Amino acid sequence: MSHAHGPATPVSSRSGNALKGRIRVPGDKSISHRSMIFGLLSIGETRVEGLLEGDDVLRTAEACRTLGATITREAPGRWRVKGVGIGGLAEPENLLDFGNAGTGSRLMMGVAGSHPITTTFDGDASLRKRPMRRILDPLVKMGVTVVSEAEGGRVPLTLRGPKETLPITYETPAASAQIKSAILLAGLNSPGRTTVIEREATRDHTERMLRHFGATVEVVPHGPEGRAITLQGQPELRGTDIVVPTDPSSAAFPLVAALITPGSDVLIEGVMMNPLRTGLITTLLEMGASIERLNERDEGGETVADLRVRHSRLSGVTVPHGRAPAMIDEYPILAVAASFAEGTTRMQGLHELRVKESDRLAAVAAGLAEAGVDHEIQGDDLIVHGSSTVRGGGRPVATHLDHRIAMSFLVMGLATQEPMTVDDGAMIMTSFPSFIPLMRELGATIQDLSRP
Ligand code: S3P
Repeated sequence: MSHAHGPATPVSSRSGNALKGRIRVPGDKSISHRSMIFGLLSIGETRVEGLLEGDDVLRTAEACRTLGATITREAPGRWRVKGVGIGGLAEPENLLDFGNAGTGSRLMMGVAGSHPITTTFDGDASLRKRPMRRILDPLVKMGVTVVSEAEGGRVPLTLRGPKETLPITYETPAASAQIKSAILLAGLNSPGRTTVIEREATRDHTERMLRHFGATVEVVPHGPEGRAITLQGQPELRGTDIVVPTDPSSAAFPLVAALITPGSDVLIEGVMMNPLRTGLITTLLEMGASIERLNERDEGGETVADLRVRHSRLSGVTVPHGRAPAMIDEYPILAVAASFAEGTTRMQGLHELRVKESDRLAAVAAGLAEAGVDHEIQGDDLIVHGSSTVRGGGRPVATHLDHRIAMSFLVMGLATQEPMTVDDGAMIMTSFPSFIPLMRELGATIQDLSRP
């Protein structure tokens, strides 16, 4: 089990150089997890290019191996998965340890739970705090037995799948692509039609990949912002080729770094522009950011663009709650941008942030307090009163095993008057292992304090 990790590795950043140059961030985390999972559930071979080799995805790959897939790494980012097909999973002898990975664990609960096998899921101290009832409730309706669970519906938990999984129609209680995806993945091993209704559209990578692998999926509008997604169960998924586009949630860090660091001019290549992922860019443009979308093209079924980002004077805006699904992972780094903006930025309806890798609302507020940024939490809204000069300094920001809290405050330190330190940079490995080297390539001063 990985509920503890090695000694904390504090990291600090300081202002200095303008950021200049051209970088490419790693592959998208959501699509990388799904590449392994769809590979497992297919007949034949899936070839993946550009896989994110972060800890979270490696855990999912390991889980897929344990359940019967043959997975090989041929070169950096180039992987092959030989699947066992829907219905063909092997019962694991040991528990599946997902480390820090919410997406991997929740999606795999839908996959393994819909097979007549017994599977135990566990993870690190962060994952052990995250709510799993939102996944277990629909799975139970599909006939899955929750053999055991930690208090409050958390991991470690054990699922036993039924002989035949029942198709359901289910309206998700939260705007969550993970809930939607767990149900659709379970629906793959069920006869008949499984429908997920979401009141607000969330990232659609599962739907797109289901089709890419040969399943029949219908998507129709539901209400003003929502969708109803229907999957025809028990298709034969066939192994195929996947090119993983780069992760807009990782690009967000160098992007905001360039916006707040005077003199910067950075090109971030090939960033995925799926409209259900670009809420941060929409918001930053409203704030007056200089971001140019260049050379738009199709890569692996998604639109990608090169983003030219220059240091900008930003102004505060109100970010409506309805935009949250399209930028759910970007609020910590938006709070950093807002700290340097003139005026007030109000981010509305952030309740889902409380159940991420950490309570991100609390963790962001605590980091802003250390940096001397004037802010408030009102209900589920975060309000940041920005200023073109931010003091920085303070005690090390507590990252609570959350990669995005670590990267956000390291970006902040590139433009504060005093350096910023985060208590532990180790979790950056879960989603963006090359974050520090890439930022240094652009000229950033970031120092790992655990190394002499
Ligand atoms: C993800 C969905 C989001 C997001 C996470 C990745 C996915 O979580 O925060 O980083 O790949 O489906 P929720 O579905 O809980 O909002």
